[in-house]
Amino acid sequence: MKQTVLTGLRPTGNLHLGHYFGAGQTWRNIQDNYDFYLEIADVQALTDNFDNPEKVRHNVYEITKDLLAIGLDPEKVHFFIQSKIPQIAELTVFYSNLVTVSRLQRNPTVKTEIAQKKELFGNDGESITYGFLGYPVSQAADITCFDGEVVPVGDDQLPLLEQCREIVRKFNSIYGETLIEPQQLLSNTPRIKGLDGNDKMGKSLGNAIYLVDDYETIQKKVMGAVTDPNKIKKDDPANPDVCMVYYYHKLVNNEENNNKICEECKKGARGCVQCKRELIEALNNFLEPIREKRKFYEEHPEEVEKVLEKGTNEALAKAEVTVKKVKQALKIDY
Ligand code: TRP
Repeated sequence: MKQTVLTGLRPTGNLHLGHYFGAGQTWRNIQDNYDFYLEIADVQALTDNFDNPEKVRHNVYEITKDLLAIGLDPEKVHFFIQSKIPQIAELTVFYSNLVTVSRLQRNPTVKTEIAQKKELFGNDGESITYGFLGYPVSQAADITCFDGEVVPVGDDQLPLLEQCREIVRKFNSIYGETLIEPQQLLSNTPRIKGLDGNDKMGKSLGNAIYLVDDYETIQKKVMGAVTDPNKIKKDDPANPDVCMVYYYHKLVNNEENNNKICEECKKGARGCVQCKRELIEALNNFLEPIREKRKFYEEHPEEVEKVLEKGTNEALAKAEVTVKKVKQALKIDY
């Protein structure tokens, strides 16, 4: 029998190339070999977007279309909406007794996110909500609700998985073997840098190339990319290894072109403007099949609904079994 995979993502914005080459790549690769539950984590998104429910709702559909466009197959993957599975909320309440407040405050992922919020909004700790502090508990419920054995994650999520394992061990030690301890599947794809040279591509960093970006948007973003600062004139020789334009050519262009670009750049036989123009074409060619696929779902929103409904029903069936077991263990199976 196939092992069960559970992973999720918060619907707070469209997918960008960082997602495509990171989580997206891993998910495409594993969809054949696992029983794959993919949660659109709208409840989790509300923990720090509770004042903007329209944004979360809109992005549930945006993200689902993006995921389908990059080649996740709804016949293989159970796409589901977190809020449609009330059992996750039930488990969250039961698990909350097994986690101390200080343990949550020490969770490195939570700590980092609180620090980011302080920086962004000048918040002091006072404005951190109970719901936000507790989201690792809710994420443990996401995973265990579906007997998630394997969780593909980026390294930023590892502390959340560790927190989940602690909850599982505590639950099982008090109430008897009931829950499955999940293993991580660390993505081996390196993080994609931004065109601005930042180590990470991200919405909050303002340097992301979205899968839905059109030709003009790509053009503008590429024209602003960081190149070798030592190259002043068009025919100065330069170092492609410090140039973000070359970095992106390597991601989306073919090997033959890239070898040529590299050689010409080193010899001073190619200007940055021409090189950027070629990257704009290469990026657009790369994105075109994704856009095509997405267009189908934009024109057929009922197909997106169908995918979500089917996956949600499959997820519900599994969640019911888990909560029944959990309630028996807790002696609340009246
Ligand atoms: N926390 C993840 C994020 O920030 C999303 C997520 C929700 C998740 N539930 C999950 C990831 C369960 C792995 C497993 O995007």
